[in-house]
Amino acid sequence: MAIERTLAILKPDCVRKQLIGEVTSHIQKAGFKILGMKMIRLTSETAGGFYAVHRGRPFFDELIKFMSSGACVPIALEKENAVADYRKLIGATDPKDAEDGTIRKLYADNKGENIVHGSDSVDNGKIEISYFFSERELVANNS
Ligand code: CMP
Repeated sequence: MAIERTLAILKPDCVRKQLIGEVTSHIQKAGFKILGMKMIRLTSETAGGFYAVHRGRPFFDELIKFMSSGACVPIALEKENAVADYRKLIGATDPKDAEDGTIRKLYADNKGENIVHGSDSVDNGKIEISYFFSERELVANNS
């Protein structure tokens, strides 16, 4: 299987609930290498740019309001089969539908406030990582 990169975001609910360490621990224990990690506060403009594919959908305004409501933590990850493995680790978008043991099942309140984001394809992973990180901010982590 190929080594892939994917973007995780610990969303504002994750930060507010003091779960940065706990959720990052799940990610690392599942074998993901952290290439880059930072805490930032998105504006409505930067959140809108990131979620541009969802513009026009009924939940868009709520999503942008939530994503710009507090600090979040984008994390660039690398692993074999990273995109699918990370999506399996976080579970379905709606925590009601997420499998037991997944991050969203364990920690999320609802579909809108669902603790974490994950890229949905290898190509989007590259685009999304570059939205938050320059190439020199991505540090090899081979140990
Ligand atoms: P995320 O993986 O970050 O990508 C888009 C986000 O929109 C999604 O997680 C959800 O948190 C949010 N969202 C809110 N309402 C909906 C909905 N009805 N359908 C899909 N996504 C939704």
